Amino acid sequence: MITVKEAREKALSFFSEQGLKIEFIENVSVKLDDAEKLINISRQKQPQKILEIGTFVGVSTAVLGLCLPETEIVCIDADLPVKLQNLLCIKQFEINNEKTNLYFVEKVLQHLEILTRFTLKRGFFSCCFPNQEDLDKVVNYGIKPEDREIIGPEICEKYGPFDMAFLDADHRVRLVGH
Ligand SMILES: C[S@@+](CC[C@H](N)C(=O)[O-])C[C@H]1O[C@@H](n2cnc3c(N)ncnc32)[C@H](O)[C@@H]1O
Repeated sequence: MITVKEAREKALSFFSEQGLKIEFIENVSVKLDDAEKLINISRQKQPQKILEIGTFVGVSTAVLGLCLPETEIVCIDADLPVKLQNLLCIKQFEINNEKTNLYFVEKVLQHLEILTRFTLKRGFFSCCFPNQEDLDKVVNYGIKPEDREIIGPEICEKYGPFDMAFLDADHRVRLVGH
């Protein structure tokens, strides 16, 4: 059985080969100890189907897929360009890659030969960026928020019920409860 550390390192080394700065990827994605907690809980629950909200480029997505080889996973992400994702972070790096998150998610899952168990969807889960400062950065970058639909209810109806959900999008309590 693959360890969480091995799974996470496989994903990180793929992103490094793709030219993505590893400090940036690690800054935005799930840390090793949290990934281990997530997989420990998941291995106990043995979910057939998981909903992941907030993939970024796919570190946690790859870890879930590699560590839970029997599980089907539906993923939702706002799918912003990684360059913009960097601008939304408190700690920023020099990132110029304009490809979007789900491009990398698909690539890494293909590379790991686990893509067939995934459904990847672009959109907001239950609301657009609620923080005006973030929203201004998105709009100034040239992204129209209305181009990303709110797809949570439709996805839950079409692909649910889910045995587990991993919420790793906007962490503000007000939104997680929404
Ligand atoms: C912290 S990152 C996710 C990291 C990822 N789970 C990992 O460990 O590699 C947050 C992600 O949530 C996405 N996001 C933010 N708000 C969202 C929303 N309302 N609906 C869907 N995705 C959202 C962002 O595009 C970003 O990719």
